[in-house]
Amino acid sequence: MPKVKFDVNGQITEVETEAGETLLQVGLDNGIPIEHACGGNGFCTTCLCKVKSGGENLGERNDKEDNMGITEVSERLGCQATVEGDVEVEVLET
Ligand code: FES
Repeated sequence: MPKVKFDVNGQITEVETEAGETLLQVGLDNGIPIEHACGGNGFCTTCLCKVKSGGENLGERNDKEDNMGITEVSERLGCQATVEGDVEVEVLET
């Protein structure tokens, strides 16, 4: 099972998840405080995550991320990026 390491203000939490879940869903299921003002619909950027490693193990960037201007390799919307393998992210807005 994929492992996700969340960095929230320097506090690291590592969890396992099913492949295909979004970073936001994985985080919320495990008590990680990820903001999600638009309800996970890709219309805000409060769930923004900085990819520290394993970016190739996230699902492909989608139109919602492009539309919100999230185009840097190191940045993903937590509610849109699916986990397909091990990844480490920093939660930017808490
Ligand atoms: S929760 Fe709003 S874009 Fe992800």
